[in-house]
Amino acid sequence: MTLVIASQLEAGFNDELRDHPARPQVIDVPEETPWDAAKSADVLLVRPSPVWKKSLSSPRPDLWPGRLKWVYSASTGVDYYPKWLLEAPLVTCGRGVAADEIADYIISAIYHRAKDLEGARVRSLSEWRQIPLGRVTGSTIGIIGFGAIGQEVARRVIALGANVTAVRRRDQASPVVGVTLLGSISEVVASADHILLALPGTPATQKVINRAVLAHAKPTAHLINIARGSVLDQDALLEALDSGRLAYATLDVTDPEPLPEGHRLYTHSKVRLTPHISSNYLVVRHRLLEKVANDIALFTRGETPSDVVDAAAGY
Ligand SMILES: NC(=O)c1ccc[n+]([C@@H]2O[C@H](COP(=O)([O-])OP(=O)(O)OC[C@H]3O[C@@H](n4cnc5c(N)ncnc54)[C@H](OP(=O)(O)O)[C@@H]3O)[C@@H](O)[C@H]2O)c1
Repeated sequence: MTLVIASQLEAGFNDELRDHPARPQVIDVPEETPWDAAKSADVLLVRPSPVWKKSLSSPRPDLWPGRLKWVYSASTGVDYYPKWLLEAPLVTCGRGVAADEIADYIISAIYHRAKDLEGARVRSLSEWRQIPLGRVTGSTIGIIGFGAIGQEVARRVIALGANVTAVRRRDQASPVVGVTLLGSISEVVASADHILLALPGTPATQKVINRAVLAHAKPTAHLINIARGSVLDQDALLEALDSGRLAYATLDVTDPEPLPEGHRLYTHSKVRLTPHISSNYLVVRHRLLEKVANDIALFTRGETPSDVVDAAAGY
């Protein structure tokens, strides 16, 4: 039987999917009602498009999940979709596709903060002076959420001579040698020079980085958020930066996205904000295609595809 895949991804991606050895039929998804694909497809390949965000609290459509056997989220995070999307028989995600690109973004943020060469740049003899630079070697990177991204970052910064502490949800050992797993987010925050937020947006992580947690931070610490705006209490962050409780923040994600015009995070002198670009999608697109193709091969052989989402945990 021909596998019917309804895909929300771009036309070029879908054309390449059609060349898969399983010869799937790849059909378009109704733009305003992507869930209607449940009538006619076995697989629904989704991305966090605006229509899903608008429908976050919409009721479950009557026909859901209909004919669908599998929902594939191109993004790792599934928090941009309504809860009932996770009620499909099988939900998997694109975990790991962009992890190394995001890790490189994080390394760049760490070096920008520790070694601000632009700030130290000399343009005339009168500017020739000693400026203390920060350190990466010997510093501590505290990773909150130690999955695909956290682990990529740990490998890189250990090679650079930094110490790594981390916290994850489950009581499992670190797959990366040299990482000290700690028992709580506050402990990680307290010891870190660079605090990395790399945990999913779930009901349990909503504003998990709040005033009480930030009170443990070193006043010289740098916070990096590439995860979700929802995990960070932005008012508490601004308060911590204004009062000198925290030194600096690099944010690739905010809540909401984009921020409204005039929001303080756009212009704060202690904030570097980027517009949710750390995953570098156009560069990693071929990896998503490879992952989807491998997963289709597994699925058509009756095996379980990679990175099944735990609907109860929300990631
Ligand atoms: N900026 C972007 O463009 C971009 C791109 C990709 C992903 N993201 C975001 O980044 C998140 C992380 O990505 P990933 O690929 O590393 O995901 P992942 O492999 O699913 O890792 C998530 C990590 O968070 C941990 N975690 C979950 N709930 C937690 C909690 N309550 N307290 C502490 N740790 C918790 C998990 O613990 P266990 O290991 O015990 O399960 C896991 O280590 C994604 O969920 C997504 O929201 C953003």
